[in-house]
Amino acid sequence: MWEKNSALLLVLATAAILVGTMVTMVVPFAYVNTERDAIASVVPYTALELAGRDVYIKEGCNNCHTQTVRPLVAEVIRYGDYSKSGEFVYDRPHLWGSRRTGPDLARVGGKYPDQWHYQHMRDPASMAPGSNMPAYGFLDNRRVNPELTRRKLEVLGFPYAEEEIIALAGKTDMDAIVAYMQKLGSDIPWREQARTTLVGELSNPYSGDQAAIAEGRDLYAQNCAACHGSGLKGGFAADLSVLGYTEEVFFQVIHDGILPLGMPGFSALGSERIWKIVSYLASEQKAQPPADQALTAPEASAAPAVAEAASNPYRDDAAAIGAGRDLYGQRCAACHGPGLKGGFAPDLSRWADSDEKLFELIHDGRLAAGMPGFSPLGAERIWQIVSYIASGQVDQ
Ligand code: HEC
Ligand code: HEC
Ligand code: HEC
Repeated sequence: MWEKNSALLLVLATAAILVGTMVTMVVPFAYVNTERDAIASVVPYTALELAGRDVYIKEGCNNCHTQTVRPLVAEVIRYGDYSKSGEFVYDRPHLWGSRRTGPDLARVGGKYPDQWHYQHMRDPASMAPGSNMPAYGFLDNRRVNPELTRRKLEVLGFPYAEEEIIALAGKTDMDAIVAYMQKLGSDIPWREQARTTLVGELSNPYSGDQAAIAEGRDLYAQNCAACHGSGLKGGFAADLSVLGYTEEVFFQVIHDGILPLGMPGFSALGSERIWKIVSYLASEQKAQPPADQALTAPEASAAPAVAEAASNPYRDDAAAIGAGRDLYGQRCAACHGPGLKGGFAPDLSRWADSDEKLFELIHDGRLAAGMPGFSPLGAERIWQIVSYIASGQVDQ
């Protein structure tokens, strides 16, 4: 009978909807995005990153890309740790998005080197064959406005240093968008946590199998050629035809990646496919790296280290240290990081043991732990590397 009273119905219906609105849309804000959700390692955007974020909004990247990883197994496997509210405290407005024509970008920071992004933005299909993402090469011709960026930082209350604003002069929108891409997801150490460790013996089930090598060649074209060039020749990442690593070492590098240098890990491909790629790489190795050919031929290959490891003939010799630094850059930096600082392999800048120990280690390697032996380099070049490491000269 109350429903006959239209005024009363209107009041009660409005009240019911208001209560619903309060409960679902207002009350939760007392519990989310509070101090408790803050993540200490999440810091505000720098001037360049903030400029890049505005390019992202202006170009409508969020019409094709989301920036939130949902807590679903498939998403976490594909993109990484799911998003937490504390990651977005400096996002005004948030750019979660609702459409995924392209992949989610919440964890793209650190996934690729800067150079990859520049090339991908200029010509997406060159880095991801078949990509239908539009090219954004024109961003190279647009400049970031330092004063406008300063005002934005002030309005948002983000801290900044005067040098940051000065450094914006001459930066393009392209520099800004790349800086912004590298920031996404980089504030939380999810990659370190997600790293799967290899257990047990590593041995290639497909060694020398021609069908596996052919499959490996296709897998290489799909997964690696964008960075390493077609046919292993090297692109902006290393030439892979001259490394001479053992299959175990190849497996480990591909499985774990070398994150500080921008080599992604491919554990998600699964062991079988990684071994097929390894079979392909191993079948294509040339005998000697060209970098070595300029130098005198190595005297011994598999000879035991002790015979050669008498004592360091080059200690404190500046020329040898220089040659050692170059060799280090070519052969060791991929794993140990530039300037001895450590990459996925240990920091070598504080090596404390004897030169002889170091020689032996480089000569023989420690394969089970992922350190290849470098006996083919020959004693002379190994001593040069030893001299460089012993000199403790950390670059940069
Ligand atoms: C028309 C839809 C579309 C638009 C607009 C678009 N993208 Fe994409 N994007 C894609 C697709 C599809 C891919 C997957 C293929 C590829 O990597 O190119 C992609 C891939 C990417 C990737 C690589 C992600 C990964 O994990 O491999 C990045 C980074 C990216 N886009 C950034 C941007 C930025 C920045 C903008 C705006 C300037 C943008 N995209 C605009 C469709 C789009
Ligand atoms: C996003 C770019 C990128 C992709 C994709 C990529 N790599 Fe790499 N890779 C790098 C970079 C960067 C390095 C380290 C710096 C260098 O050696 O140029 C590297 C290093 C390596 C190394 C060690 C090289 C050395 O000098 O010791 C191997 C082996 C390797 N990659 C294999 C692969 C294989 C196999 C694939 C495909 C499954 C692959 N990479 C995909 C960027 C990439
Ligand atoms: C394919 C990756 C890779 C390359 C290339 C590589 N290393 Fe290593 N190296 C490792 C790993 C992994 C370890 C750690 C082994 C362990 O835990 O016992 C290691 C360990 C070492 C150690 C011992 C460090 C310690 O604290 O115990 C030294 C010294 C070393 N490497 C020197 C070199 C030199 C010099 C080169 C270049 C000629 C080189 N490595 C090239 C992966 C590599």
